Amino acid sequence: DDTKAGVKGLVDSGITKVPQIFILPPKYRVVTCGTKFIFPVIDLEGIDEDPIKHKEIVYKVRDASETWGFFQVVNHGIPTSILDKTLQGLRQFFEQDNEVKKQYYTRDSTKKVYYNSNIDLYRPSVPAANWRDSIFFSMAPNPPRPEEFPRQCGEILMDCSKHVMELGCSLLGLLSEGLGLDRCHLEDMGCAEGLALVGNYYPPCPQPELTIGTNRHADADFITVLLQDHIGGLQVLHQNQWIDVPPTPGALVVNIGDLLQASILLMSNDKYLSVEHRALANKVGSRMSVACFFSTCTMSSSKLYGPITELLSEDNPPKYRATTANDYLYYFRKKGLDGTSALLDYK
Ligand code: SIN
Ligand code: FE2
Repeated sequence: DDTKAGVKGLVDSGITKVPQIFILPPKYRVVTCGTKFIFPVIDLEGIDEDPIKHKEIVYKVRDASETWGFFQVVNHGIPTSILDKTLQGLRQFFEQDNEVKKQYYTRDSTKKVYYNSNIDLYRPSVPAANWRDSIFFSMAPNPPRPEEFPRQCGEILMDCSKHVMELGCSLLGLLSEGLGLDRCHLEDMGCAEGLALVGNYYPPCPQPELTIGTNRHADADFITVLLQDHIGGLQVLHQNQWIDVPPTPGALVVNIGDLLQASILLMSNDKYLSVEHRALANKVGSRMSVACFFSTCTMSSSKLYGPITELLSEDNPPKYRATTANDYLYYFRKKGLDGTSALLDYK
């Protein structure tokens, strides 16, 4: 029953040392170093009005997706007030009375709403538990009923996911154009059929250097839109260095997931990359982030995803075997965030 109080429950009980289950073997721990890289920021202002700007933005999105697999967007059209209220509503969920919060606890990931913590502990290859609690919402195509949401965040999450869906579709348009495909290509493939929102809560940690908030991983979806608060801690692996993604007021982080990489990454022509990232534990906390995962509708779709036919040629033979989004997600979850890529097993 203690597990259901989450990492937050542990912190609230007054621990001063990180319990053994969270302690990472030294090779996984975080070493910080300076860097010359600047994380890309793309301004989406004027994207639909000005054809020249539109072209420039397509180019920037393509470039960032090929070199980083990650970028931040500003002037993306989602009002800051919506983003702030989303963080606030989710924070209230995590910081409420434990007895109420526990009612949402489950390890059954087929539920439309579920809260949990440390599920990684039940996976054999995972090096240590992560210093975070999470709540998951399946928002599209069929959102939870109003009464299925915790009372603090149902309304705002419905509102927020409508905006996020719009932004996701316009990002998929830019990404399609960047590949020389029709603007609707990725959306027509079903890349935004399903949308899941995950709120992550990282309580302050007495010994952040011994553990990690979210272990290194790449995302299992097509694209992810991530909202982080002002604390920071998200890092992206770029040219073998962990680079900070600076918290930028009003900005959203966008990244390419495994299923999109597998659809377009060809033997001799590396395109958009699904890149590893992680979130650090920190002393100051509590940090919050909201990850919005775009995929097919998880439970039902039997569509197969593999290299896009239009991009294949004799010089570009397929590199990955096709899979349904659902099978891939199932495999990804079963494996857990153990620091190796699930996609490698689909070559
Ligand atoms: C994640 O990638 O799952 C979480 C990233 C973050 O909290 O910034
Ligand atoms: Fe992620």
